[in-house]
Amino acid sequence: MNVLLIGGGGREHALAWKLAQSPGLDRLYAAPGNPGIARHAELVALDARDHRAVVAFAGARDVGLVVIGPEAPLVDGLADSLRAAGVAAFGPSAAAARLEGSKGFTKDLCAAAGIPTAGYRRVSSREEAALALDGVFGLPVVVKADGLAAGKGVTVATTRAQADAALDAIFADGNGEVVIEEFLAGEEASLFVLADGGAAVAFGSAQDHKRVGDGDTGPNTGGMGAVSPAPALTPELESRALAEIVVPTLAAMAAAGTPYAGVLFAGLMLTAQGPKLIEYNVRFGDPECEALMARFEGDLLGLLLAVAQGRLAALPPPVLAAETAVTVVVAAAGYPAAPRTGGVIGGIVAAAATGAHVFHAGTRADGARLVAAGGRVLAVTARGPDVTAARATAYRAIDAIDYSDGFHRRDIGLR
Ligand code: AMP
Ligand code: GLY
Repeated sequence: MNVLLIGGGGREHALAWKLAQSPGLDRLYAAPGNPGIARHAELVALDARDHRAVVAFAGARDVGLVVIGPEAPLVDGLADSLRAAGVAAFGPSAAAARLEGSKGFTKDLCAAAGIPTAGYRRVSSREEAALALDGVFGLPVVVKADGLAAGKGVTVATTRAQADAALDAIFADGNGEVVIEEFLAGEEASLFVLADGGAAVAFGSAQDHKRVGDGDTGPNTGGMGAVSPAPALTPELESRALAEIVVPTLAAMAAAGTPYAGVLFAGLMLTAQGPKLIEYNVRFGDPECEALMARFEGDLLGLLLAVAQGRLAALPPPVLAAETAVTVVVAAAGYPAAPRTGGVIGGIVAAAATGAHVFHAGTRADGARLVAAGGRVLAVTARGPDVTAARATAYRAIDAIDYSDGFHRRDIGLR
């Protein structure tokens, strides 16, 4: 079967690497892809926002499955356009992708279904927001812009001034949709579930490292590293999160006539009262996906196709190796505020010789040279019998990379 992969980051490189190992794969295309993905796929210049062009490409190249990596094309309905044209797609409909596309939608769903999550108010004016801060919430308090914000829409405010500043920024042009939330204390963990509109199956967990600096300091990023499985998510807590959060969510989506099919990424806070939902994402996490793929030993194409075709129940549950995977992101100087692109990257072959996978996240070929083309540049991933062994290999690989413009955290997996 021919497959088209949409996206061009570290997540998609890991998916491409794993898809390329599937016995059922004939040709893999990637749009736009990146130089790492190009080792496994033919790169095509398709704009994912141009649904007609994507559908036409799938028809012309006999594509049997389109795997949609990032959230924006899902919220934009690319999976719907493909399915309407008879092309199987891995990823939820636009209606189901509201679980990530609108924080207010998800909070209302949780409230209606009794799903544990932070207490909240939805507000659509600066005045309502001020009333909620005055009357309902103490400090810290969390302020979230409603829509997709590429990881920049959330402020955890420890002072009223910080909360006010976040609200002023969102309502700067007079309108906005905001969720104000109770602060939850605890360890965070990410849980991944594959769902095909009917059946659902757990697909591993991971712990992200969101802050830019060692010791969880500095601004939030898209993620500076990941460990899979999430150390804090015991089997008992995972079972509770599935039963109390994910299963009722999937049931509510089906009952509303918008069944969820794809991967559902539950961002959890493990509180003293048990797991609570922080947020949903409707795609694999990045860099969590890189760590998950390093542990998955099955046929990824067969699995994603079964999800897309509603045949998940007919498959044996997917198995992730009992080992630990660690992903360390190498970012461009200045990330996240103003990453300096264009820096030359060397040493990838030496890094891969350690046994680690060097996934490309934001790279570009410049003649014969490889240069940085984004904030997160590489996602170096290694597996081992425990976190210490996996960390050792990942950092040995990183130390072999020659990229003077880059930086990375030294403490991924140490927490
Ligand atoms: P998000 O962009 O929704 O993943 O949120 C970014 C980060 O903000 C999360 O990973 C949490 O660390 C933090 N966060 C979001 N909501 C809450 C909450 N209600 N309580 C505490 N921390 C939160
Ligand atoms: N690493 C967090 C995310 O992908 O949303």
